Amino acid sequence: MIFLVAGARPNFMKIAPLAKEMDKADLRYKIIHTGQHYDIQMSEAFFKDLDLPKPDINLGVGSGSHAEQIGEVMIAFEKVCLEEKPDLVMVVGDVNSTIACALAAVKLLIPVAHIEAGLRSFDRTMPEEINRLLTDQISDYLFTTCEDANINLKNEGIPESKIFFVGNVMIDTLMDQLEIARTSDILKRLGLEVEDRIMPYALLTLHRPSNVDEPGILGGILNVLLDFSGQIPVIFPIHPRTLRRLRKFGLLQEIDYGEDASSVRVAEKARSIIGLPPLGYLDFLCLMAHATVMLTDSGGIQEETTILGIPCLTLRNNTERPITVKEGTNVVVGNNPDIIRRGIHDILGLNLSKKRTPKYWDGKAAERIVKVLTQKMNG
Ligand code: UD1
Repeated sequence: MIFLVAGARPNFMKIAPLAKEMDKADLRYKIIHTGQHYDIQMSEAFFKDLDLPKPDINLGVGSGSHAEQIGEVMIAFEKVCLEEKPDLVMVVGDVNSTIACALAAVKLLIPVAHIEAGLRSFDRTMPEEINRLLTDQISDYLFTTCEDANINLKNEGIPESKIFFVGNVMIDTLMDQLEIARTSDILKRLGLEVEDRIMPYALLTLHRPSNVDEPGILGGILNVLLDFSGQIPVIFPIHPRTLRRLRKFGLLQEIDYGEDASSVRVAEKARSIIGLPPLGYLDFLCLMAHATVMLTDSGGIQEETTILGIPCLTLRNNTERPITVKEGTNVVVGNNPDIIRRGIHDILGLNLSKKRTPKYWDGKAAERIVKVLTQKMNG
């Protein structure tokens, strides 16, 4: 029996195709939710949108400092492993739940598979970079999304026999859901689609501590985007961490914030940043697919916009996903207001038609992963 572990929002779309493929292959699994993300909009909404079975076990860990969160996940997950004795623990991505469950499992001599291994920003001030480095060192099966990741792992001394280049499970989900997402009524609800015409708009997400924890930095980013919203509206679904900071720093009044997405009619507003609560997977994918430009500090969104062919400005100083710059639509600009301003100007003038689809980002990554595991576990 396999444990399929998820804890935070970006994990859910990664486990969805794995669960589906394991069902097809008749592999027995249990979904373990660590509870790192717990708000309905950050968790349950995704299970619903992605048609994922409810978690078999929820560790209910919740928020805390890094040490508290990782420590509590480890303690709770170890108990469950001792009771259930899984044959394999599968972790995805780079969040605190990923390293916590991987570490608890290897200490019990349970093999670990890491999905999305080998990505590196080479910036150890990012909590996720520490999670990636450590998870990869202790995993038995490292499933990668791109050649850069294979090279990074080999440079860190990981034997080639543990590395499996299979593609991107997040893109499996995107391809699976895109048609359904296009039928979402979010554009109409926001007044962005009027009489079958979709107006140009920018889509913004921000949640990295390096962007949202300092009032000067967060205020600087917002100022540039307020200026830009004079040209096209900026739609901003707000992560709970960011909302808390905006309130604390007195910056929430700078944006037009509506608690209820259906109460905001963008077309009737004076141009501004339109703040919304976090959105579900399908509504957000629909908004992304029609956006004029995406501005983000997320990792996964850099990959999704590459496949959708939507220009993406990454408001970070580095990326662990350089393939989205080399082959996709991503430009990394950092969080300096002047450079963001120039970046917006440049990206809107870029010819993105030369973009390629990264190898194996074809909707079949989970199928490849399950094939490898079935062979290994049976042989
Ligand atoms: C985590 C991941 C990050 C990922 C992001 C996606 C780590 C170290 N970081 O960051 O890599 O990109 O998820 O969202 O694992 N909160 C709520 N409700 C929730 C969840 C969080 O209100 O359901 C608030 C709490 O104030 C919490 C804060 O958000 O303290 C941060 O949550 P946390 O899980 O620690 O990190 P994220 O910033 O979400």
